Amino acid sequence: MQIIAHGGVGGTREQDGCVEEALEKGSKGTETPLEAVVGVVRELEDDPIFNAGTGSRIRLDGTIQMDAAVMTPEDIGSIAAVERVRNPILVALEVYHSPYVFLAGADVTRFARKLGYEDYDPSTEKREKELAEMKNKLKGDDKELDDLRNFYRKVGFGDTVGCVAAEDGNYAAAVSTGGTDYCIRGRVGDSPVPGAGFFVGEHGAVVTTGKGEEIIKRMTAIRCHDMIPEYGIKEACRIGVENLPEDTTLGIIAVGEEGPWADSSREMPQAKKL
Ligand code: GLY
Repeated sequence: MQIIAHGGVGGTREQDGCVEEALEKGSKGTETPLEAVVGVVRELEDDPIFNAGTGSRIRLDGTIQMDAAVMTPEDIGSIAAVERVRNPILVALEVYHSPYVFLAGADVTRFARKLGYEDYDPSTEKREKELAEMKNKLKGDDKELDDLRNFYRKVGFGDTVGCVAAEDGNYAAAVSTGGTDYCIRGRVGDSPVPGAGFFVGEHGAVVTTGKGEEIIKRMTAIRCHDMIPEYGIKEACRIGVENLPEDTTLGIIAVGEEGPWADSSREMPQAKKL
């Protein structure tokens, strides 16, 4: 099985070892691309250095809302704004196996509890400190706090974790995030949006990371997937990364017939298995 995983654009290549460890541990003993991508993303969620699961970014109101998704050519399971669960990717997998494709908000948290996912606080001291620093920067500028358009201008990194895998032409993708910094409650980025944060089709599997708003506007994952037959996987990823405003960060991982590939506008911790 061929697998590639990332720990979020805007991270550092010094974190490659952490992604590699998650890839090895999470894919061990798995028999299908779907099992592998879920296993790897689950491990990445459990590593507090990444912005997903434990260690997710904290919203400006002090809460954590997380998005996650899983996809194969057969089905999709996507969740937005789930709260207080340890592994959002496992809840997304429950949606994948349900009659639905996308659940959101308080009801996805209730759905998770009904299925036995216990209350879990994913915050860490590091994220609490980051939130305090962000709030300090906003201090004395209450108008800005009241103005959602200004929040939009402040949306920062959307470092996400993700994994794609392939075996004998079977593809799967999984993605998970705590959102961006300067993030208000209810904001949803690209990660749970099919075609934007992830896509799987006949040419391969694609996952993106970066500023979700720009990725959604461009439907980056499906566009990258659709370019694979004409341009090849490397060029498709490069075009995808370049098709963004200058101040925006974006990373893409993909796997197709030619194997796994990654491209990004800034450093992006990553690991692959051939
Ligand atoms: N890429 C993750 C987000 O924007 O929420």
